Amino acid sequence: MAKLKWGMIGGGEGSQIGPAHRLGAQADGLFEFAAGALDHRPEAGRAYAQRLGVPADRAYGDWQEMLAGEKDRPDRIDLVTIATPNATHFEIAKAYLEAGFNVLCEKPMTMTVEEGEEIVRVARASGRICAVNYCYSAYPMVRQARAMVRAGEIGKVRLVVTNFSHGHHGDATDADNPRVRWRYDPAMAGVSGQFADCGIHALHMASFICDDKVATLSADMASTISSRQLEDDAMVNFRMEGGTVGRLWTSSVAIGRQHGFDIQVFGETGGLRWASEHPNQLIYTPVGGRTQIIEKGEGGLHDDAMRLSRVAIAHPEGFPLAVANIYCDLADAIRGEPRDGLPDAADGVRSIAAVHAAVASARAEGAWQDARPPMFR
Ligand code: NAI
Repeated sequence: MAKLKWGMIGGGEGSQIGPAHRLGAQADGLFEFAAGALDHRPEAGRAYAQRLGVPADRAYGDWQEMLAGEKDRPDRIDLVTIATPNATHFEIAKAYLEAGFNVLCEKPMTMTVEEGEEIVRVARASGRICAVNYCYSAYPMVRQARAMVRAGEIGKVRLVVTNFSHGHHGDATDADNPRVRWRYDPAMAGVSGQFADCGIHALHMASFICDDKVATLSADMASTISSRQLEDDAMVNFRMEGGTVGRLWTSSVAIGRQHGFDIQVFGETGGLRWASEHPNQLIYTPVGGRTQIIEKGEGGLHDDAMRLSRVAIAHPEGFPLAVANIYCDLADAIRGEPRDGLPDAADGVRSIAAVHAAVASARAEGAWQDARPPMFR
């Protein structure tokens, strides 16, 4: 089968998420890296794309030049990934969808709820895929957890507790580092810092595993480094449409926590626990029974977890292969065989609505807010 053609915007040299996309897109030989506008500095972007093997005539200076260059080519890209800072996602995603390209957009998909709803509408009208990179949902054992919940193996879910807390922005003397600073600059990041950066991964994960939607929330937010305009720590209580109680903590100043993303799901007949630092194991406890470790790749997993287990049992699989799983599902969808679970623009706008609800709640001393975008109320 011919490789699909893939282009990337952002993710330039030294960027945080760029390498994971390049590894993920190319891990299974499904995509060829055909075009790129990788950097906010046109010459640096062109040069880096060529060093990565992109042909010179498709190593573009910016996303507009790439759109103009790609749209009428007979061999134009089948998918474009948007891995630029948040404030640019909306106009780039909209322009590429309107020109008929499939899009994988980094989270948060947009800055405002209105923009998010517009992307949902544009994607529907174009008939193209607009996926959002909630890549943690593509770890095999997260898929196992979701399948177990769906199969009723822990009964009705009562409670979900999750946190995504690290300490990598905890050094006040590093607050002006350009890769850190934009995340707390409202012009670049939007209304929220850490919640929009990491908290929404945890919130999406709660919805994904519980197979439910966040309905209402109450938040407390703090900028513990006082020069920051946006929060670097947040605690969010939420309720899901099906009645599940949710608790979420997210922080970027939790020094000592490296990549502290974990989730616990407590049902009427059992509990599940998964952590990104130990992604191959899902911990399962049936009510009144012994705690069990379910391993990626072992016999008896649900189909989706088995499908996405790539290498033999006990060999580590990690973040880039979770991203690769997103690209596998994208390749299937582009070829007309969509799979359940690929995060899409509806997930993207639900997240951004939750972000705005959390900011409103924090400003109103924790008053509960409707967390749903108007289009889904
Ligand atoms: P970064 O600051 O490390 O890198 C951003 C890159 O985009 C740089 O190479 C920069 O030159 C380039 N860029 C900026 N504006 C551009 C433009 N207009 N055109 C082309 N290139 C441009 O940022 P990072 O951490 O890589 O984040 C990028 C996006 O990815 C953000 O939206 C962030 O929220 C998201 N992200 C997602 C993660 C995930 O787990 N899904 C993890 C980390 C980031």
